[in-house]
Amino acid sequence: MYRKPFAILLCALALAGCNSEPEDTRPGQPVAHRRAAFKEIIKAFEPMGVMMRTDSYDAAKFKVLTAQLMARRDVPWQYFTADTLYPPSHARAEVWSEADRFAADKKAFFDATDALARVVDAAGGAPDEVTARNAYRDVEAACENCHKTFKRR
Ligand code: HEC
Repeated sequence: MYRKPFAILLCALALAGCNSEPEDTRPGQPVAHRRAAFKEIIKAFEPMGVMMRTDSYDAAKFKVLTAQLMARRDVPWQYFTADTLYPPSHARAEVWSEADRFAADKKAFFDATDALARVVDAAGGAPDEVTARNAYRDVEAACENCHKTFKRR
């Protein structure tokens, strides 16, 4: 019986090991900052996708989410500085070795989000569902296109 507490302790340690990623202890924490910045972007973007997938398009909400996305889209990039590929980053080395392509994918993302904001503005803040859906899809494609080359799962 005296073995049991020991087994439980090992289990707890193993679980902690599985669930936690290494902390970003570098000066300025660039990896932690860019990951947090992408999390803020997806908090604005994901609810748009939910609307589209569940047929619950709401123009007023879509407008608010677009404004949030536009306000957050600039933040991650400044943290992709030299020599910042280390755990817990999920970036690929290509971010640095194929910097021109990374810049091009980033520009495509800015173009797609510009177009999204224009569509919302042009419709007086209330684009029809088809227009909103198309603009949303173009942004989604820009996210995915960059992730395919530059982000690990
Ligand atoms: C130009 C490239 C590029 C574009 C465009 C891009 N991402 Fe990313 N994203 C990355 C890279 C690289 C990482 C990995 C960062 C790291 O872990 O160091 C990442 C990480 C993330 C993460 C993970 C954050 C975490 O918890 O670690 C999320 C979520 C994310 N992106 C969402 C998005 C969404 C949503 C869009 C579009 C609205 C988008 N990204 C557009 C390159 C991009």
